[in-house]
Amino acid sequence: MAAHDFADDAPDLPRSQRLKAATRTTHDRLDRRIMAGDIFASRERYARFVRVQYRFHRDIDALYAHPALDELLPDLAGRRRLDQIALDLHDLGQALPAPAQAEATQRARAALPLAQALGWLYVAEGSNLGGSVLYKLAAKLGLDRAFGARHLAAHPDGVARHWREFTAALDSATLSAAQERELVAGAEAAFASVRGHVEDELA
Ligand code: HEM
Repeated sequence: MAAHDFADDAPDLPRSQRLKAATRTTHDRLDRRIMAGDIFASRERYARFVRVQYRFHRDIDALYAHPALDELLPDLAGRRRLDQIALDLHDLGQALPAPAQAEATQRARAALPLAQALGWLYVAEGSNLGGSVLYKLAAKLGLDRAFGARHLAAHPDGVARHWREFTAALDSATLSAAQERELVAGAEAAFASVRGHVEDELA
């Protein structure tokens, strides 16, 4: 059987929309799994979710200095949220998760080809959209952009505008059919890595 060709799924849609459709089931499962973890039942439960975020963003930290991504995206370094996540953990009285193999993982991400790196970054950037929903729920625990929920707070430009700047760059990149597949594979791998952290932290 021929390999499934993502580029042919709906050629009229922008790439960002096709990527969303290609990963929708994975995303929906992840959302449901996280919300089933009762992450707003207490600050202690919420801190487990922030640990998931920390571990994911530590994995991908090298992407924010990826030369090819930097050429493509406006304000790549400004999109990095690891420091805010670390401050949120500090606010919550949490130690940073142990650096299990983080250095090796980071080195691997730094060397990712552009299309895969874009797929990983899509997942990190997209999580900001859900993040604005989570930010409102965090308010019930007394958390906000000054304490405990810094990393979920909207970007000063506005969540929607910040996201559109990312998808515009994603849509404008010139990618071969093979790279289109790498993009989806990168996003799926990123979702799988978040899922792994969720299983560890929210068990
Ligand atoms: C760290 C965990 C999460 C990751 C990695 C993640 C990832 C993503 C991604 C990539 C998108 C962009 C979809 C698009 O292309 O428009 C997105 C959107 C969204 N996510 Fe999540 N998400 C996470 C957690 C959650 C949770 C727990 C919720 C639960 C409420 C949620 C709700 C949403 C919503 C409401 C949107 C906007 C959907 C839309 O505009 O159609 N996300 N998320």
